[in-house]
Amino acid sequence: MISFVDKAVLQFDRALQTLVPHAAHAARLSPARAIPEGALSKEERKHSSGLMRVNHTGEVCAQALYAGQAMTAKLPAVREEMQHAADEEIDHLVWCEQRLYDLGSQPSLLNPLFYATSFCIGAGAGLISDRLSLGFVAATEDQVCLHLQQHMTTLPIADEKSKAVLEQMHIDEAKHKAMALSAGGYEFPRPFMSVMTHVSKIMTSTTYRI
Ligand SMILES: [Fe+2]
Ligand SMILES: [Fe+2]
Repeated sequence: MISFVDKAVLQFDRALQTLVPHAAHAARLSPARAIPEGALSKEERKHSSGLMRVNHTGEVCAQALYAGQAMTAKLPAVREEMQHAADEEIDHLVWCEQRLYDLGSQPSLLNPLFYATSFCIGAGAGLISDRLSLGFVAATEDQVCLHLQQHMTTLPIADEKSKAVLEQMHIDEAKHKAMALSAGGYEFPRPFMSVMTHVSKIMTSTTYRI
């Protein structure tokens, strides 16, 4: 049985891994690795950086959400699948971070704030029920897929490296959503989803710049 102190130490370690630059390690190589760097203008580079910063913060939120759920939910039947999804999110986090540095930029300064907020949401949902918790994963992945689709169409054409990262992320996120629903997650009603869209707009519009 893991004590509360052990759990707290593990949580702190996970938060540091997510928030400290270069601390996390990907299990899979970045899809951008084999693609040559495109010739981007200063403006295009700035736009790509903004989009990749938004995606990186999305991954920070995913880490926090899973961490919060792991703290409060039992999820015995789906723990392994959830862990697999969480591991894939670490890959996404690292790929986005690498891409940001390649573009001469950096992750959002607001990440600690988004981590704390998402952790509380995950922990709260887990306390109420596993089905709500899984429903939240599905709803979040749904929002992430929407962003990714948008970003893939607005990225500069020459930025094939970022596009390759987003394409693989989109495949993984759609899988995570399906997994969460098939494991019993609630499918949230449309009004709730539009609230989530508004909340995620706050995140995307701030982290694009900061
Ligand atoms: Fe992800
Ligand atoms: Fe995901």
